Amino acid sequence: MAVSALQPARVTPASAPLRAQRAAVDAAAVCQSSTALRSQRAAGQRRRAVAARAVPAAGKVYIDPVEKEAAAFAPATVANLGPGFDWMGCAVEGDGDVVTATVLPDRPGEVVIESIEGDGGRLSLDAPKNCVGIAAIETLKLLGAAPSCGVSLRLHKGLPLGSGMGSSAASAAASAWAVNSLFGGPVPKDKLIYVGLASEAAVSGYHADNIAPALMGGFILIRSCDPLDLQRLPFAGDLWFVLVNPRFEAPTAEMRAVLRKEVPMKEVINNCAMGGSLVAGILTGDAALIGKALDSDAIVEPVRGPLIPGFAAVKEAAHGAGAFGCTISGAGPTAVAIVSDPEVGERVKAAMVAAFKSSGGLECNSAKVVRLDNEGAKRT
Ligand code: HSE
Repeated sequence: MAVSALQPARVTPASAPLRAQRAAVDAAAVCQSSTALRSQRAAGQRRRAVAARAVPAAGKVYIDPVEKEAAAFAPATVANLGPGFDWMGCAVEGDGDVVTATVLPDRPGEVVIESIEGDGGRLSLDAPKNCVGIAAIETLKLLGAAPSCGVSLRLHKGLPLGSGMGSSAASAAASAWAVNSLFGGPVPKDKLIYVGLASEAAVSGYHADNIAPALMGGFILIRSCDPLDLQRLPFAGDLWFVLVNPRFEAPTAEMRAVLRKEVPMKEVINNCAMGGSLVAGILTGDAALIGKALDSDAIVEPVRGPLIPGFAAVKEAAHGAGAFGCTISGAGPTAVAIVSDPEVGERVKAAMVAAFKSSGGLECNSAKVVRLDNEGAKRT
Protein backbone atom coordinates (compact mmCIF):
# COMPACT_ATOMS: atom_id res chain seq x y z
CA MET A 1 0.00 0.00 0.00
CA ALA A 2 1.59 3.24 -1.10
CA VAL A 3 1.22 6.41 0.88
CA SER A 4 0.96 9.55 -1.15
CA ALA A 5 0.92 13.11 0.01
CA LEU A 6 -2.13 13.89 2.11
CA GLN A 7 -3.50 10.37 1.64
CA PRO A 8 -3.94 8.46 4.88
CA ALA A 9 -2.39 5.01 4.99
CA ARG A 10 -3.94 2.20 6.98
CA VAL A 11 -2.20 -1.12 7.28
CA THR A 12 -2.92 -4.23 9.26
CA PRO A 13 -0.78 -4.99 12.30
CA ALA A 14 1.69 -7.89 11.86
CA SER A 15 2.27 -9.77 14.12
CA ALA A 16 14.91 11.09 39.16
CA PRO A 17 16.91 12.52 37.56
CA LEU A 18 18.24 10.62 34.68
CA ARG A 19 20.84 8.63 36.57
CA ALA A 20 18.26 7.30 39.01
CA GLN A 21 16.13 5.99 36.15
CA ARG A 22 19.07 4.35 34.49
CA ALA A 23 19.36 1.14 36.53
CA ALA A 24 15.73 0.17 36.04
CA VAL A 25 15.75 0.92 32.36
CA ASP A 26 19.05 -0.86 31.77
CA ALA A 27 17.50 -4.09 32.97
CA ALA A 28 14.74 -3.84 30.40
CA ALA A 29 16.69 -2.49 27.45
CA VAL A 30 17.68 -5.21 25.10
CA CYS A 31 19.15 -3.47 22.10
CA GLN A 32 21.71 -1.02 23.41
CA SER A 33 23.53 -3.81 25.08
CA SER A 34 25.83 -4.47 27.96
CA THR A 35 29.28 -3.42 28.98
CA ALA A 36 30.20 -7.10 29.19
CA LEU A 37 30.01 -7.21 25.45
CA ARG A 38 32.43 -4.32 25.24
CA SER A 39 35.22 -6.31 26.77
CA GLN A 40 34.51 -9.30 24.55
CA ARG A 41 34.81 -7.53 21.27
CA ALA A 42 36.79 -4.87 19.51
CA ALA A 43 34.83 -2.53 17.26
CA GLY A 44 35.12 -3.33 13.60
CA GLN A 45 36.08 -6.94 14.10
CA ARG A 46 34.11 -9.84 12.71
CA ARG A 47 32.27 -11.43 15.58
CA ARG A 48 30.61 -14.68 16.51
CA ALA A 49 27.07 -14.74 15.18
CA VAL A 50 23.98 -15.88 17.05
CA ALA A 51 21.20 -17.38 14.94
CA ALA A 52 17.47 -16.86 15.28
CA ARG A 53 14.64 -18.66 13.51
CA ALA A 54 11.86 -16.76 11.84
CA VAL A 55 10.03 -19.34 9.76
CA PRO A 56 6.28 -18.66 9.47
CA ALA A 57 4.12 -21.48 10.79
CA ALA A 58 2.38 -22.12 7.48
CA GLY A 59 5.68 -22.29 5.64
CA LYS A 60 4.52 -24.44 2.72
CA VAL A 61 5.01 -21.87 0.00
CA TYR A 62 8.51 -20.49 -0.29
CA ILE A 63 9.85 -17.19 -1.52
CA ASP A 64 13.34 -17.16 -3.02
CA PRO A 65 15.85 -14.33 -2.83
CA VAL A 66 16.42 -12.43 -6.07
CA GLU A 67 19.87 -11.20 -5.08
CA LYS A 68 22.74 -12.65 -3.06
CA GLU A 69 23.37 -9.40 -1.23
CA ALA A 70 21.52 -6.12 -0.73
CA ALA A 71 22.63 -3.03 1.18
CA ALA A 72 20.39 -0.22 2.38
CA PHE A 73 20.88 3.17 4.03
CA ALA A 74 18.43 4.86 6.38
CA PRO A 75 18.74 8.48 7.49
CA ALA A 76 18.69 10.26 10.82
CA THR A 77 15.30 11.51 11.97
CA VAL A 78 14.06 14.36 14.13
CA ALA A 79 11.04 13.38 16.20
CA ASN A 80 8.56 15.52 18.10
CA LEU A 81 9.54 18.91 16.58
CA GLY A 82 8.28 20.59 19.74
CA PRO A 83 4.63 19.81 20.48
CA GLY A 84 4.52 16.70 18.27
CA PHE A 85 5.57 14.18 20.94
CA ASP A 86 5.19 10.69 19.45
CA TRP A 87 3.07 11.94 16.52
CA MET A 88 5.42 13.97 14.31
CA GLY A 89 8.83 13.28 12.86
CA CYS A 90 10.90 13.96 9.78
CA ALA A 91 13.96 12.56 8.06
CA VAL A 92 17.07 14.67 7.50
CA GLU A 93 19.91 14.40 5.03
CA GLY A 94 23.44 13.47 6.01
CA ASP A 95 24.49 10.67 8.30
CA GLY A 96 22.64 7.40 8.74
CA ASP A 97 23.05 3.67 9.21
CA VAL A 98 23.85 1.07 6.53
CA VAL A 99 22.84 -2.58 6.70
CA THR A 100 24.08 -5.21 4.26
CA ALA A 101 21.97 -8.37 4.06
CA THR A 102 23.46 -11.52 2.56
CA VAL A 103 21.71 -14.76 1.68
CA LEU A 104 22.42 -17.76 3.91
CA PRO A 105 21.66 -20.72 1.61
CA ASP A 106 20.15 -23.84 3.17
CA ARG A 107 19.34 -22.08 6.44
CA PRO A 108 15.73 -21.01 5.81
CA GLY A 109 14.39 -18.40 8.16
CA GLU A 110 17.60 -17.93 10.13
CA VAL A 111 18.79 -14.44 10.93
CA VAL A 112 22.34 -13.87 12.10
CA ILE A 113 24.21 -10.69 12.81
CA GLU A 114 27.65 -11.14 11.36
CA SER A 115 29.21 -7.87 12.41
CA ILE A 116 28.58 -4.39 13.72
CA GLU A 117 30.88 -1.44 13.13
CA GLY A 118 30.73 2.00 14.63
CA ASP A 119 29.03 1.08 17.91
CA GLY A 120 32.16 0.88 20.01
CA GLY A 121 31.37 -2.77 20.68
CA ARG A 122 28.20 -1.96 22.60
CA LEU A 123 25.42 -3.58 20.63
CA SER A 124 24.34 -7.19 20.97
CA LEU A 125 24.98 -9.67 18.16
CA ASP A 126 22.05 -11.73 19.38
CA ALA A 127 19.53 -11.15 16.58
CA PRO A 128 16.35 -11.10 18.72
CA LYS A 129 18.01 -8.52 21.00
CA ASN A 130 19.23 -6.08 18.37
CA CYS A 131 17.28 -3.58 16.25
CA VAL A 132 18.62 -4.93 12.96
CA GLY A 133 17.98 -8.53 14.00
CA ILE A 134 14.42 -7.84 15.18
CA ALA A 135 13.69 -5.87 11.99
CA ALA A 136 15.04 -8.67 9.80
CA ILE A 137 13.09 -11.37 11.68
CA GLU A 138 9.86 -9.36 11.41
CA THR A 139 10.47 -8.54 7.73
CA LEU A 140 10.85 -12.22 6.89
CA LYS A 141 7.42 -12.79 8.44
CA LEU A 142 5.85 -10.24 6.10
CA LEU A 143 7.20 -11.58 2.81
CA GLY A 144 3.97 -13.45 2.09
CA ALA A 145 5.67 -16.86 2.03
CA ALA A 146 8.37 -18.66 3.97
CA PRO A 147 11.87 -17.58 3.00
CA SER A 148 13.83 -20.36 1.32
CA CYS A 149 17.07 -19.07 2.83
CA GLY A 150 18.37 -17.32 5.90
CA VAL A 151 19.88 -13.85 6.15
CA SER A 152 23.19 -12.65 7.47
CA LEU A 153 23.45 -8.97 8.46
CA ARG A 154 26.32 -6.50 8.66
CA LEU A 155 25.55 -3.17 10.33
CA HIS A 156 27.58 -0.01 9.91
CA LYS A 157 26.40 2.60 12.41
CA GLY A 158 26.73 6.14 11.18
CA LEU A 159 24.59 7.56 13.98
CA PRO A 160 25.64 7.68 17.62
CA LEU A 161 23.63 5.65 20.14
CA GLY A 162 21.22 7.52 22.40
CA SER A 163 21.65 10.71 20.40
CA GLY A 164 18.07 11.78 19.75
CA MET A 165 18.53 11.40 16.01
CA GLY A 166 16.68 8.12 15.60
CA SER A 167 19.71 5.86 15.79
CA SER A 168 17.80 2.65 16.53
CA ALA A 169 15.11 3.48 13.96
CA ALA A 170 17.75 4.06 11.28
CA SER A 171 19.25 0.63 12.02
CA ALA A 172 15.83 -1.04 11.88
CA ALA A 173 14.76 0.78 8.72
CA ALA A 174 18.00 -0.04 6.91
CA SER A 175 17.74 -3.68 7.96
CA ALA A 176 14.09 -4.01 6.90
CA TRP A 177 14.78 -2.37 3.54
CA ALA A 178 17.89 -4.46 2.87
CA VAL A 179 16.18 -7.76 3.74
CA ASN A 180 13.05 -6.82 1.78
CA SER A 181 15.24 -5.91 -1.20
CA LEU A 182 16.97 -9.28 -1.03
CA PHE A 183 13.60 -10.86 -1.89
CA GLY A 184 12.71 -8.35 -4.59
CA GLY A 185 10.97 -5.82 -2.34
CA PRO A 186 7.53 -7.45 -1.88
CA VAL A 187 6.69 -5.44 1.26
CA PRO A 188 5.84 -1.73 0.85
CA LYS A 189 7.57 0.81 3.08
CA ASP A 190 4.46 1.74 5.03
CA LYS A 191 3.92 -1.89 6.02
CA LEU A 192 7.54 -2.19 7.10
CA ILE A 193 6.80 0.45 9.73
CA TYR A 194 5.31 -2.38 11.81
CA VAL A 195 8.65 -4.15 11.60
CA GLY A 196 10.34 -1.03 12.94
CA LEU A 197 7.72 -0.61 15.65
CA ALA A 198 8.51 -4.09 16.96
CA SER A 199 12.15 -3.10 17.10
CA GLU A 200 11.49 0.31 18.68
CA ALA A 201 9.22 -1.27 21.31
CA ALA A 202 12.10 -3.52 22.37
CA VAL A 203 14.50 -0.60 22.63
CA SER A 204 12.74 2.55 23.67
CA GLY A 205 8.97 2.48 23.46
CA TYR A 206 6.15 1.98 21.00
CA HIS A 207 6.39 5.12 18.92
CA ALA A 208 6.56 5.51 15.13
CA ASP A 209 7.80 9.09 14.85
CA ASN A 210 11.37 7.94 14.07
CA ILE A 211 10.81 4.70 12.18
CA ALA A 212 8.12 6.07 9.83
CA PRO A 213 10.23 8.96 8.47
CA ALA A 214 13.38 6.79 8.52
CA LEU A 215 11.64 4.47 6.07
CA MET A 216 9.54 6.92 4.09
CA GLY A 217 11.38 10.24 4.31
CA GLY A 218 9.76 13.70 4.62
CA PHE A 219 7.50 14.91 7.42
CA ILE A 220 5.24 12.16 8.77
CA LEU A 221 2.21 12.76 10.96
CA ILE A 222 1.37 9.66 13.04
CA ARG A 223 -2.34 9.65 13.84
CA SER A 224 -2.20 6.21 15.42
CA CYS A 225 0.30 3.40 15.94
CA ASP A 226 -2.24 0.67 16.48
CA PRO A 227 -3.67 0.36 13.95
CA LEU A 228 -1.06 2.30 12.06
CA ASP A 229 -2.55 5.42 10.54
CA LEU A 230 -0.17 8.00 9.19
CA GLN A 231 0.05 10.80 6.71
CA ARG A 232 2.95 12.24 4.83
CA LEU A 233 2.88 16.03 4.87
CA PRO A 234 4.27 17.63 1.72
CA PHE A 235 6.65 20.50 2.35
CA ALA A 236 7.80 22.99 -0.25
CA GLY A 237 9.84 25.80 1.21
CA ASP A 238 13.27 26.83 2.41
CA LEU A 239 14.11 24.99 5.57
CA TRP A 240 17.37 23.90 7.17
CA PHE A 241 17.79 21.95 10.38
CA VAL A 242 20.71 22.77 12.65
CA LEU A 243 21.53 19.59 14.56
CA VAL A 244 24.02 19.80 17.39
CA ASN A 245 24.84 16.56 19.18
CA PRO A 246 26.71 17.01 22.46
CA ARG A 247 28.89 14.33 24.03
CA PHE A 248 26.22 13.13 26.45
CA GLU A 249 23.96 10.12 26.24
CA ALA A 250 20.23 10.33 26.83
CA PRO A 251 18.76 6.88 26.12
CA THR A 252 15.21 7.21 24.86
CA ALA A 253 13.78 4.70 27.34
CA GLU A 254 15.19 6.74 30.22
CA MET A 255 14.03 10.04 28.78
CA ARG A 256 10.54 8.58 28.40
CA ALA A 257 10.54 7.24 31.94
CA VAL A 258 10.95 10.75 33.39
CA LEU A 259 7.81 12.13 31.73
CA ARG A 260 4.74 12.96 33.78
CA LYS A 261 1.77 10.60 33.51
CA GLU A 262 -0.72 13.44 33.83
CA VAL A 263 -0.47 17.04 32.66
CA PRO A 264 -2.63 20.11 33.28
CA MET A 265 -5.34 20.98 30.77
CA LYS A 266 -3.66 24.34 30.08
CA GLU A 267 -0.54 22.59 28.81
CA VAL A 268 -2.60 20.21 26.69
CA ILE A 269 -4.43 23.12 25.08
CA ASN A 270 -1.16 24.88 24.35
CA ASN A 271 0.37 21.81 22.76
CA CYS A 272 -2.73 21.08 20.69
CA ALA A 273 -2.79 24.64 19.37
CA MET A 274 0.92 24.68 18.63
CA GLY A 275 0.76 21.17 17.13
CA GLY A 276 -1.86 22.48 14.72
CA SER A 277 0.43 25.41 14.03
CA LEU A 278 3.32 23.05 13.32
CA VAL A 279 1.25 21.16 10.73
CA ALA A 280 0.06 24.45 9.22
CA GLY A 281 3.66 25.65 8.99
CA ILE A 282 4.70 22.47 7.19
CA LEU A 283 1.80 22.52 4.75
CA THR A 284 2.29 26.19 3.90
CA GLY A 285 6.09 25.95 3.69
CA ASP A 286 6.44 28.53 6.46
CA ALA A 287 9.77 27.98 8.25
CA ALA A 288 9.09 30.78 10.75
CA LEU A 289 5.82 29.18 11.80
CA ILE A 290 7.49 25.78 12.15
CA GLY A 291 10.18 27.41 14.27
CA LYS A 292 7.61 29.08 16.50
CA ALA A 293 5.93 25.72 17.03
CA LEU A 294 9.29 24.13 17.80
CA ASP A 295 9.69 26.55 20.68
CA SER A 296 6.31 25.94 22.19
CA ASP A 297 6.26 22.52 23.85
CA ALA A 298 4.88 22.96 27.37
CA ILE A 299 4.72 19.26 28.26
CA VAL A 300 7.87 17.32 27.36
CA GLU A 301 10.70 19.83 26.85
CA PRO A 302 10.26 21.45 30.29
CA VAL A 303 10.87 18.03 31.89
CA ARG A 304 13.67 16.78 29.65
CA GLY A 305 15.47 20.07 29.02
CA PRO A 306 16.93 20.39 32.54
CA LEU A 307 18.38 16.86 32.21
CA ILE A 308 20.54 17.94 29.26
CA PRO A 309 23.45 20.07 30.52
CA GLY A 310 23.36 23.54 28.96
CA PHE A 311 20.18 23.00 26.95
CA ALA A 312 18.44 26.20 28.07
CA ALA A 313 21.50 28.26 27.10
CA VAL A 314 21.74 26.43 23.77
CA LYS A 315 18.15 27.32 22.98
CA GLU A 316 18.75 30.94 23.86
CA ALA A 317 21.95 31.01 21.80
CA ALA A 318 20.14 29.58 18.78
CA HIS A 319 17.58 32.36 18.97
CA GLY A 320 20.25 34.98 19.47
CA ALA A 321 21.98 33.83 16.28
CA GLY A 322 18.79 34.01 14.22
CA ALA A 323 17.02 30.65 14.51
CA PHE A 324 13.23 30.60 14.18
CA GLY A 325 13.01 28.04 16.96
CA CYS A 326 14.94 25.39 18.85
CA THR A 327 14.04 22.30 20.82
CA ILE A 328 15.26 18.83 21.79
CA SER A 329 15.55 16.42 18.87
CA GLY A 330 13.63 13.28 19.82
CA ALA A 331 14.51 12.31 23.36
CA GLY A 332 17.78 14.27 23.22
CA PRO A 333 20.47 15.23 23.92
CA THR A 334 20.76 16.58 20.34
CA ALA A 335 19.33 20.07 20.02
CA VAL A 336 17.61 21.04 16.77
CA ALA A 337 17.03 24.56 15.47
CA ILE A 338 15.18 25.70 12.36
CA VAL A 339 16.41 28.33 9.89
CA SER A 340 15.53 29.22 6.31
CA ASP A 341 19.03 30.13 5.17
CA PRO A 342 22.15 27.95 5.40
CA GLU A 343 24.42 30.91 6.21
CA VAL A 344 22.26 31.76 9.18
CA GLY A 345 22.35 28.04 9.95
CA GLU A 346 26.15 28.11 10.22
CA ARG A 347 26.00 31.01 12.69
CA VAL A 348 23.30 29.28 14.72
CA LYS A 349 25.34 26.09 14.73
CA ALA A 350 28.44 27.88 16.07
CA ALA A 351 26.39 29.60 18.78
CA MET A 352 24.80 26.33 19.88
CA VAL A 353 28.12 24.49 20.02
CA ALA A 354 29.63 27.33 22.07
CA ALA A 355 26.69 27.30 24.47
CA PHE A 356 26.88 23.55 25.05
CA LYS A 357 30.54 24.08 25.97
CA SER A 358 30.22 27.21 28.09
CA SER A 359 26.96 26.40 29.90
CA GLY A 360 26.85 22.62 29.82
CA GLY A 361 30.54 21.80 29.86
CA LEU A 362 29.91 19.52 26.88
CA GLU A 363 31.98 19.06 23.74
CA CYS A 364 30.01 18.14 20.63
CA ASN A 365 30.24 14.94 18.62
CA SER A 366 28.76 16.61 15.58
CA ALA A 367 27.14 19.85 14.46
CA LYS A 368 25.45 20.10 11.08
CA VAL A 369 23.18 22.21 8.93
CA VAL A 370 21.07 19.81 6.87
CA ARG A 371 17.94 19.71 4.74
CA LEU A 372 14.87 17.51 4.80
CA ASP A 373 15.41 14.00 3.41
CA ASN A 374 12.43 13.18 1.23
CA GLU A 375 13.40 9.62 0.36
CA GLY A 376 14.03 7.74 3.59
CA ALA A 377 15.50 4.25 3.39
CA LYS A 378 17.18 3.51 0.08
CA ARG A 379 19.49 1.01 -1.58
CA THR A 380 23.16 1.80 -1.58
N1 HSE B 1 8.84 10.53 20.51
C1 HSE B 1 9.98 9.87 21.02
C2 HSE B 1 10.36 10.49 22.35
C3 HSE B 1 11.11 10.02 20.05
O1 HSE B 1 10.47 11.72 22.40
O2 HSE B 1 10.51 9.78 23.34
C4 HSE B 1 12.40 9.41 20.51
O3 HSE B 1 13.41 9.66 19.53
